[in-house]
Amino acid sequence: MFASLRLLSRRTLASQVSRIQSIAQAPVRQFSAEAAATKSGGWISGGGKWALLFGAAGLGGWYYAKENDFVGGVTGKAPSSAPTVPDYDKVRKAISDLMASDKAEEYDDGSFGPILVRLAWHCSGSYDKASNTGGSNGATMRFPPESGIGANKGLDVARKLLDPLKEQFPWISYSDLWTLAGAVAIEEMGGPEIPWRPGRTDQPDGKNCPPDGRLPDASKGAQHIRDIFYRMGFNDQEIVALSGAHALGRCHRDRSGFEGPWTNSPITFSNEYFKLLLDEKWNKKKWNGPLQYEDKTSKALMMLPTDMALVWDKKFKPYVELYAKDDEKFFQDFAKAFSTLLELGVPFKEELPNKA
Ligand code: HEM
Repeated sequence: MFASLRLLSRRTLASQVSRIQSIAQAPVRQFSAEAAATKSGGWISGGGKWALLFGAAGLGGWYYAKENDFVGGVTGKAPSSAPTVPDYDKVRKAISDLMASDKAEEYDDGSFGPILVRLAWHCSGSYDKASNTGGSNGATMRFPPESGIGANKGLDVARKLLDPLKEQFPWISYSDLWTLAGAVAIEEMGGPEIPWRPGRTDQPDGKNCPPDGRLPDASKGAQHIRDIFYRMGFNDQEIVALSGAHALGRCHRDRSGFEGPWTNSPITFSNEYFKLLLDEKWNKKKWNGPLQYEDKTSKALMMLPTDMALVWDKKFKPYVELYAKDDEKFFQDFAKAFSTLLELGVPFKEELPNKA
């Protein structure tokens, strides 16, 4: 509770206004009972097996089902209207509760939000369009070698945080859970609503882990950023929009080697990152660590070499300027690009109707 109060108190009026505006314009979520029923045919047959089991177990089975959020059809009586579908709203609520827990208050800047966003991004950002490999489907980051690569250092924290939710809702795949947690975290931190739908399945082992080197190296420049994100299928504008997530969270010396937050409100989603990139003077930090930049005013904020590349590159910079001026446009473009990122390589049966 305290964490959520703190989170709210840190939000600026401007970001609250943007949130209201963005929610008013945001597309409708795609996790309704109807969507879930059409998307999860495989699940429903799995659910049928559970239903038999619970029927035999009588009241105990009913209690288990109630606790684990199977909606309808598990008490032995055929439900008149409610279909047997998993309730993703319950999972959303559990993620929000986790973010507002007292445990979260003690962590970093008072929220698990940023690291949940990073988990969703790193499990998805391994996608390679040419070979249609990698991406969030499979949740292969549970296994070596992907779990142990340098780029994923620290993400065990996020994975462990979500494990109890996987136990509470055993019907959800890890890959759906991790991506949903990233989407909910953005929303809970004042960001736009992220279109999200279920349908990912988990791999049983690490045989299909994507090779190391698919995630960006923060010490490099514009060409490297393009190599990495074009490989996933993104364009320059989407690259800049996605990079705006660095309004959130911080670098940790013992994870990436870099240190510090990008903005003064690292648990509030905003266009502050773009404003700072343009308005501040950024100097090389003099320290015993990898090259990073610090703001001249407070020396408390940081930028990575890849962040600076967005203002140094003449094709990226106009988008930095656009998003610094227009937070509504940033929220819209981020929501669309982040939703696309979470879906890369996922073999959905149908197209998401609200995506252009
Ligand atoms: C060129 C592209 C990118 C590079 C080089 C990069 C690099 C990094 C690095 C080095 C960290 C610090 C990790 C640590 O020490 O804990 C970090 C954190 C973070 N990144 Fe990125 N990133 C990139 C793109 C993205 C994208 C596309 C997103 C999401 C859409 C994102 C979201 C985050 C978040 C939320 C954190 C904070 C995590 C925390 O506070 O624990 N990043 N990134």
